[in-house]
Amino acid sequence: MSAVVILISGRGSNLQAILKAVERGELDVRIAAVISNNPSAPGLAIAARAGVTTQVIDHRLYAARELFDRALIQAIDAHRPDLVVLAGFMRILGTELIEHYRGRLMNIHPSLLPEFKGLNTHARALAAGVTRHGASVHFVTPEVDGGPIIVQAPVAVHTKDSVETLAARVLEQEHRILPQAIAWFAADRLRIDAGQVLLDDRPVAEQGLLVHDRAAGSR
Ligand code: GRF
Repeated sequence: MSAVVILISGRGSNLQAILKAVERGELDVRIAAVISNNPSAPGLAIAARAGVTTQVIDHRLYAARELFDRALIQAIDAHRPDLVVLAGFMRILGTELIEHYRGRLMNIHPSLLPEFKGLNTHARALAAGVTRHGASVHFVTPEVDGGPIIVQAPVAVHTKDSVETLAARVLEQEHRILPQAIAWFAADRLRIDAGQVLLDDRPVAEQGLLVHDRAAGSR
């Protein structure tokens, strides 16, 4: 069974969605540990309640990002994970760490990438007046929010939406697609080929899993 280490920084609702999927028997993985860079992340209590080992690597205690990243690598590797999942992990990671976990480091991002990389995605989507927003799960590469996309989920933007109502609708989709992507990885159904993700040896873009079919050149 695949061992998964989950990194969080805050609330932990995506972590909770993963734990629930495991509990319900929809996700056949072992959550080896939950690691937070933030000692007061509410998600730590969610993990502890589920009986999952928790650990804090407080980035504020490290003089440089490289030192924090190395401490994080050590902490993660102690659990020998097959997969590392960034589930609301709000620190930018350096190239050394990202290369160390190449092909087995996944992130959930609250936008339809490549749109709205970075922070405050919901406010930016509203300000841009888009009619469609959503969430993406992708493999992490050194380009922030730029790695190969595994699956996306669109949501309609309503004229009356506030950042909060839009974020809540996107979050529901995050809770669906992150456990799904982990399940595919754990079942050894994902590959990366020439910067594209294949599910069962077919590009995810051809299987309706991406909102923008970049392979077909629509963007
Ligand atoms: C999510 O919207 C995630 O996509 C973003 O931060 C939020 C974390 O939420 N990167 P939670 O901690 O999983 O509740």
